[in-house]
Amino acid sequence: AHSKTELLALKNAEALLGGGQDRIDAQHKKGKLTARERIDLLMDEGSFEEIGKFVMHRSKDFGLDKEYYLGDGVVTGYGTVNGRLVYVFSQDFTVFGGSLSETHAEKIVKIMDLAMKNGAPVIGLNDSGGARIQEGVVSLGGYADIFYKNTLASGVVPQLSAIMGPCAGGAVYSPAITDFILMVENTSYMFVTGPNVVKTVTHESVTSEELGGASTHSAKSGVTHFSCANEVVCINHLKQLLSYMPQNCEETAPAQPYEASDDESRAVLDSIVPDNANQPYDIREVIDGIIDAGSFLEVHQNFAENIVVGFARLAGRSIGIVGNQPAVLAGVLDINASTKAARFVRFCDSFNIPLLVLEDVPGFLPGTDQEWRGIITNGAKLLYAFCEATVPRITVITRKAYGGAYDVMNSKHIGADMNYAWPTAEIAVMGAKGAAEIIFKREIAAAADPEAKLQEKVDEYQEKFATPYRAAHRGFVDEVILPSQTRQKLIRAFKMLENKVDQLPRKKHGNIPL
Ligand code: COA
Repeated sequence: AHSKTELLALKNAEALLGGGQDRIDAQHKKGKLTARERIDLLMDEGSFEEIGKFVMHRSKDFGLDKEYYLGDGVVTGYGTVNGRLVYVFSQDFTVFGGSLSETHAEKIVKIMDLAMKNGAPVIGLNDSGGARIQEGVVSLGGYADIFYKNTLASGVVPQLSAIMGPCAGGAVYSPAITDFILMVENTSYMFVTGPNVVKTVTHESVTSEELGGASTHSAKSGVTHFSCANEVVCINHLKQLLSYMPQNCEETAPAQPYEASDDESRAVLDSIVPDNANQPYDIREVIDGIIDAGSFLEVHQNFAENIVVGFARLAGRSIGIVGNQPAVLAGVLDINASTKAARFVRFCDSFNIPLLVLEDVPGFLPGTDQEWRGIITNGAKLLYAFCEATVPRITVITRKAYGGAYDVMNSKHIGADMNYAWPTAEIAVMGAKGAAEIIFKREIAAAADPEAKLQEKVDEYQEKFATPYRAAHRGFVDEVILPSQTRQKLIRAFKMLENKVDQLPRKKHGNIPL
């Protein structure tokens, strides 16, 4: 017989081995790390404390009364990432394919409860064959318990989901409710129904990777916010992402030490916007010119590329940036751009991350496709998200601010705190040519030389409206600034807004047009 200490050592060793060495080797052969290796990469060395290491399932059917693994397919606990407390669950594919049992779910719910009570982020490392098939409805109940907690925790603590293997069926809805999803290329996939069912129902032949791999979900569906080349990159992204966030909704994100220099002007910004208003430029150049060097973490990089969103630092402080992207579709707002940006704005507002909006937008994308798929409802999401955001909000209009899109993109009227415009800004109902064609239609038609008349009217409209000055006269724009001054102005303005207090009217919750 073993001594009491030996027994504990044996049990610990057994738990560490999960589903056994053969299955660990098989996991490695697929190019995947184990649940514990992932936690080791994520957490500060030696900081991880496990909870529920010896938990076992309680099922008896289909031979489960003879098959037990300590931990039951998920490693849960807490530790620190760059010195900050986080809770983690990491599914162990070597135990019943990481499938979710009643007890597996209980372990996850337990750390989520702790996270909410103690105000710290939850990170889920997902690698699971779905509901534990032998358990039936108790497993489904376990999923629902997690979904419910995810929803209650939403907006209370940040929730991040990394998908590092299968995530199918009901399993997808926990990550879907969390704030950010990261996927690993070639070894992870997410779908509601797999290729076999798809084949039967819709007769489409599609591989798992095509149906729900990282590139599909980062570019086509927008389900994932980050597509990562491998697991190490994925875990590094998790850490970086956390660095921009506070621990919970009552706190602000940690600032990094920053020595302000006497001269925060950035001459490079003066030559980015082309003279010709129809010529594109990359809004990322503007972002890079404004923020602390190398601090931009783009979210949803491959989805709805006509709008750019992401986190950055300005004089060491964490900010969220939303910028129209003139280099793609001239920066128009469409359905995907609107939902992408709306979700980002709401995340930032939930967690007290100030917002910077860079505006160069010719309007909403016209056409039957957009109208029939509901650009009205979807565009309204972005409008709503900005309207209800109470964090410090600053807009810089770099060029076009046309029509309804001017209102939507964090205009003064919907609660922006500071609105700047560059001298290249054109704030008008529409572009000068379209405007002249409509309001001077008869005059142009009656003219001896209609072409010349049109040009004359275009020039007239251009001169009157295609500037920032009408808006500045009204106070809709607080100041017209040189591009090179932007960084300095923003550092000061965000500092000025540091203690902003703003409250929405009392309500149960709003009814954002979904
Ligand atoms: N419930 C119970 N056990 C499961 C499981 C589940 N949902 N999914 C996988 N497993 C077990 C397998 O029986 C296998 O056990 P073993 O190691 O004792 O042989 C182990 O996990 C690994 O699964 P395997 O099928 O060999 O791995 P794979 O990489 O070839 O395939 C999946 C992975 C996820 C595609 C495949 O296991 C699968 O289709 N699982 C069922 C998915 C599902 O329909 N889930 C329920 C809906 S939510």
